[in-house]
Amino acid sequence: MKIISSISRLRREIDLLKRDGKRVGFVPTMGALHEGHLSLIRRARKDNDVVVVSIFVNPTQFGPGEDFSRYPRNFKRDRALCRAEGVDIIFYPSTEEMYPQPYRTFVEIRELDRHLCGRSRPGHFKGVCSVVAKLFNIVSPDIAYFGQKDIQQAIIIKQMIKDLNFPIKMKIMPIIREKDGLAMSSRNAYLSEKERREATVLYRSLCLARDMIRKGERRPGRIIKEMQGLIAGTSGRVDYIEIVDIESLAPIKRLKEQDKIVVALAVWFGKARLIDNIIVTVR
Ligand code: PAJ
Repeated sequence: MKIISSISRLRREIDLLKRDGKRVGFVPTMGALHEGHLSLIRRARKDNDVVVVSIFVNPTQFGPGEDFSRYPRNFKRDRALCRAEGVDIIFYPSTEEMYPQPYRTFVEIRELDRHLCGRSRPGHFKGVCSVVAKLFNIVSPDIAYFGQKDIQQAIIIKQMIKDLNFPIKMKIMPIIREKDGLAMSSRNAYLSEKERREATVLYRSLCLARDMIRKGERRPGRIIKEMQGLIAGTSGRVDYIEIVDIESLAPIKRLKEQDKIVVALAVWFGKARLIDNIIVTVR
């Protein structure tokens, strides 16, 4: 396994591999790796000749006052996990390597960032699109892997790949959960013991929404109200709960048969802002 911090060196390595006809799979991450990340790496390992994982806590996707400085970082542990999964290259650049000063170019996406996390984290998806576009240009993968855990991010990147003509296939992989349903996340490390127990309410409220839809409820307002009620029994503070169309990410007024929708939420527990979602086909 090679650990590469220099963009020009990574480009040279990838060029050589591509000249040999190798298929390159790419998993972008911010490190603090867990089973969610590893599921993407395993799939990339299965589909490709070469697997590249990037580890870069991208400053441009964090707002002022967000958790950039205390985001968990543990390169030694990440390196051991990548090695055990048969990763070929870790791309581990410094901030100066990715954003040499003066840095002035960003990628902005329209409409898809108006709801969900885009509304509560202004500028977040501009930072994500910009860094992912840069990583795509640096790594030039054949296939890139993203998690449904960050569903708005995945849908936005899919649109960016199409709009900016990146010759890259994208795969969106299912959410990996703890035994009690909590979606795995690097930010779960911020939770106290009590918050960790209470945090299962995100997934429980999503299951409640799915059950209500299965039983015929078609009014998003009613579903959201029940979810809020469940969360109100914990110390969690709701940032948003939305029921949106899976393509436009716009809120739905009334559910119809065959609609493919996303129920998504963000809830604060102490210092941790947790997100989760499920995809439901209405029938
Ligand atoms: P990060 O939060 O490290 O996540 C990296 C990838 O792992 C994302 O595609 C995310 O959706 C996926 N992932 C996280 N938790 C998951 C889980 N429980 N199950 C399945 N997949 C999961 O997302 C980012 O980093 C950054 O925004 C990045 C794309 C790297 C750009 O900086």
